This record gives sequence, structure tokens and C-alpha cells, in this order.
Amino acid sequence: MPVTNDSQLVEAAIQASEQAYIPYSNYRVGAALLTASGQVYGGCNIESVSFTPTVCAERTALYKAVSEGHRDFAAIAVVTRDAGSPCGVCRQMMYEFSPEMRVILADLEGRVQLTTTLDALLPHGFGPSNLDNAS
Ligand code: THU
Repeated sequence: MPVTNDSQLVEAAIQASEQAYIPYSNYRVGAALLTASGQVYGGCNIESVSFTPTVCAERTALYKAVSEGHRDFAAIAVVTRDAGSPCGVCRQMMYEFSPEMRVILADLEGRVQLTTTLDALLPHGFGPSNLDNAS
């Protein structure tokens, strides 16, 4: 089913959250990333007993999409029990590709709490253009 609106993207994020591997935090996260070409990549958080290798749902979705050839993103929906906001590492990683993408934050029942942009979540961010004149 092609995703055409925010509530469908949130629904895809809820579906993705069902695969979350969260034995340590029990904090379930699902993400659904919409490419500029209209495809949706889901992701969940995947934890590790040694903690550091844990990957967030947003980056799971991002890495899936980039590894399939996508670099341009229109929006991401993220769902958690409290409509939590993406961590700083995920903000930076998404900023690499699409600083202007929309970010939709919702709870696990699909109630949207905030719709914003990545630019607003990472103001004055450090991005690829900063290295444009690197030799
Ligand atoms: N987590 C995410 O998946 N996304 C975020 O932006 C915040 C944190 C995950 C990582 C870990 O599995 C759990 O939530 C608690 O930090």
C-alpha cells in the first residue's frame, strides 16, 4: 500500500515497533521513513547486552533505506509510549541526508503529539556542506 499521508506513516511505524528487541529497556520504538520517491522503510530498536551496540529505530530504518539506494527523505514517523523525540545521534545521522524532512512523533496508539522538521530538532546543525571545500 503506498503511503500518502501522515496517519499511514504512523501506522507503518506502529507495525515496525512490533519487532522491537528490547529486553533491557522495555522501551519500544518504531520508525517509518518515507523516501522522496514514496517508498517506506520501517525500523525498530535493537538492543545489545553490552548496551553500546544498541541501535535506535530511526537509524535501523535509515540504514535499511540508504543501503537500498535512497538518500533523499520526505518524512519520518516515530512512535513510542510517550511520543519521545529522536536522540541526538539519530538527528545527526538523518541530517546527513535530509535536513528538511518532516518528523512526526506519536504514541503507540497512533496519537500524534508533534509534527516538526529535522532542522527544527537540530538547529545550526553540522552537515555535509561544512566539508565542501575539504581537500
Ligand atoms: N531509542 C530509539 O530507538 N530511538 C530514540 O531516538 C531514542 C532511544 C531506543 C534505544 C534503546 O533501545 C531504548 O530506546 C532506550 O533508550
